[in-house]
Amino acid sequence: MTAAPHVPVLLQETIDLLQPGPGRRYVDGTFGFGGHSAALLTAGAEVLGLDLDPAACAACANLAAAQPGLRCRRDSFRNLDRALADCGWNAVDGVLLDLGVSSLQLDDPDKGFSYRADGPLDLRFDPDRGEPAAALLAELDERRLADLLWSLGEERASRRIARALVAARAQAPVGTTFRLREVVESVLPRGAKPQPVLSRIFQALRIAVNDELGALEEALLKLPPVLAPGGRFVVIAYHSLEDRLVKRFIDRERRDCICPADVPQCVCGHARSLRILTKGALAATDEEAARNPRARSARLRAAERI
Ligand SMILES: C[S@@+](CC[C@H](N)C(=O)[O-])C[C@H]1O[C@@H](n2cnc3c(N)ncnc32)[C@H](O)[C@@H]1O
Repeated sequence: MTAAPHVPVLLQETIDLLQPGPGRRYVDGTFGFGGHSAALLTAGAEVLGLDLDPAACAACANLAAAQPGLRCRRDSFRNLDRALADCGWNAVDGVLLDLGVSSLQLDDPDKGFSYRADGPLDLRFDPDRGEPAAALLAELDERRLADLLWSLGEERASRRIARALVAARAQAPVGTTFRLREVVESVLPRGAKPQPVLSRIFQALRIAVNDELGALEEALLKLPPVLAPGGRFVVIAYHSLEDRLVKRFIDRERRDCICPADVPQCVCGHARSLRILTKGALAATDEEAARNPRARSARLRAAERI
């Protein structure tokens, strides 16, 4: 790869935790533009790179042409167990999930991830699967739309915005990023800053069309079985909904018993599978956040298979 269009977040922290080296194998479940994978490969490790975005997969194929230790697959990280089996790998030394959107995706108006450029309201990582956000906005009734904006965007004005969207689509489809932006801005109080609201609305739609929380939950459950003993995973999340899922999963898997507190004797049969490596979540340093604004909201959690 030539220039780095996407600056990898918390790179040194990730590498320190994953401890790559010759003979070690990793899954990069969110290859993107390969920033993290390149560092794993440079350390002598082998990497299986997964991504849903055809452009990211093309970047992976380019890098693989020069790096024999890299394999690429266009797939969701929710299928990481199958991807590994197809590779002929039984277990790996580490898995990385650097969630969310890459800078290149944000900058591509055809993907519709950003309210800053006009383009089709798509928001899918994989343009060949599922429905674009415009279809979702056309189909959902007002209550379900409001619930979605609230639960996945934590947007307080969800009901007002849903009402406005339903009224607007009766006039003309809400099919572009700028049309959505116009409708959202039309209901904000005079003088209110639109950017945070727009970010939350776009986030909610993106999470919904890509089933991001479902994919993460499924992948988390598959991590202990695919990790070799002593193998590690790192998850970098960019909003609280994802980070909460990761935190709860690690909390559960580091316990010997997950019975409710009022049960006198353990009946759950749960066995601890993980040792936590990060006390709380790691965040970017001020210096990294200043250099790379995407790093500001990043929260990294890691654990080791026992
Ligand atoms: C933040 S970027 C990763 C950047 C990468 N670490 C780098 O340094 O270039 C997230 C990537 O994950 C991909 N992605 C999102 N959900 C995915 C999923 N369920 N399975 C596979 N890839 C996914 C996106 O297409 C995007 O390319």
